[in-house]
Amino acid sequence: MKKEVAEANATKLIYNGPCVLVTCQRNGRPNVFTVSWNTPVSIVPPIVAISCVKSNYSWEIIRGTKEFTINVPEMDIVDAVFGCGKVSGREVDKFSRFGFGLESGKKVSVPSIKECPGQLECKVIAEPQFGDFSLFVAEVVSAYAEEEKFDTKWILEKAKIINHLGDEVFYSLGIKQSAKLI
Ligand SMILES: Cc1cc2nc3c(=O)[nH]c(=O)nc-3n(C[C@H](O)[C@H](O)[C@H](O)COP(=O)(O)O)c2cc1C
Repeated sequence: MKKEVAEANATKLIYNGPCVLVTCQRNGRPNVFTVSWNTPVSIVPPIVAISCVKSNYSWEIIRGTKEFTINVPEMDIVDAVFGCGKVSGREVDKFSRFGFGLESGKKVSVPSIKECPGQLECKVIAEPQFGDFSLFVAEVVSAYAEEEKFDTKWILEKAKIINHLGDEVFYSLGIKQSAKLI
């Protein structure tokens, strides 16, 4: 028998994309936030989308600059991934708080996170609005990944990509782990 799922929990039924760190930058000052709601949209040309709540500092930045980078993290930095989704760049420099190394973007002016083995550099091409969220639909202008962890797809024995179940609970390859708020 199936039970009814409360409206507040409905989207958790499809909480299965990789949880990513999205970087953006304004006036030379970078920011990063955690995003579970991301999706591929098109293969040729490569287009992706992230859903971003309007109260996020990153929303303001991306709305203005039309650029962001999706960084794919692994389980070894799950506490930082959780933390980047709990504090705002309005108050905190998350790069120094969580000890990330920065690398220059290749085709966008947004830096990427050294500790993450894969990146998609993106330029926004559309931003439909839904309630409190903007869906930033973006063309991928550059994509790169650590060769020992990605050939034509992630090599899961080596790349411990993170998925988010909800709240502080993440998993990777069937390993469930609760993140600590750091
Ligand atoms: C695991 C996790 C996943 C999240 N996914 C999203 C998301 O998909 N879209 C979004 O707008 N916010 C998401 N958030 C919330 C933002 O990351 C959070 O509001 C963050 O503090 C915004 O930072 P900023 O104000 O520096 O932009 C998520 C938070 C966590 C912990």
